[in-house]
Amino acid sequence: VPVDLGTLLTSRIRDVPDYPRAGVVFKDITPLLADAAAMTALVEALAALAVRHQVDKVVGLEARGFILAAPVAVRADVGFVPVRKAGKLPGECLSQAYALEYGTAEIEVQRDAFLPGERVLVIDDVLATGGTAEASVELVRRAGAEVAALAVLMELAFLQGRTRLETVLAGAPLEAL
Ligand code: PRP
Repeated sequence: VPVDLGTLLTSRIRDVPDYPRAGVVFKDITPLLADAAAMTALVEALAALAVRHQVDKVVGLEARGFILAAPVAVRADVGFVPVRKAGKLPGECLSQAYALEYGTAEIEVQRDAFLPGERVLVIDDVLATGGTAEASVELVRRAGAEVAALAVLMELAFLQGRTRLETVLAGAPLEAL
């Protein structure tokens, strides 16, 4: 990651204290989304990863992952596949449950989203605990695709999501811009 790209992106992410609840500092990416130069630089960098990893599809994780993954798919000239919270996708779906701090969450992908063995780049905005990314990688694999790489705009390193993902990624790179 070029230093100037990291600096540009970081400068367009806003810390919002005590959101969505007391004690949490929320990383608000809306200033980045609203800045054409920063957004273009981000999409170009992610699309370069898609090209370098020779992927057939780009997968976006609901909700903010969608905003990044769709333009990346267009730029890299490959298809886009949504991974959504349970109950949002029509037709036959595969589901993957994962643990939250309190309770569980479930994400889904359509059963026919991939051709067997297709290479995919999974994109999200934030890697925090890694629970969402871990479940997504497992889900995409169960749908018959190969995870070529996982890319996030930002990694909250203090939560050690990267360590948690080591096993499931099995050598596939985690790229944090
Ligand atoms: C946020 C973020 C990631 C996930 C990261 O999404 O956009 O998808 O949490 O957290 P983790 O690494 O601890 O799993 P959120 O669940 O808030 O969903 P939303 O984008 O639909 O609001």
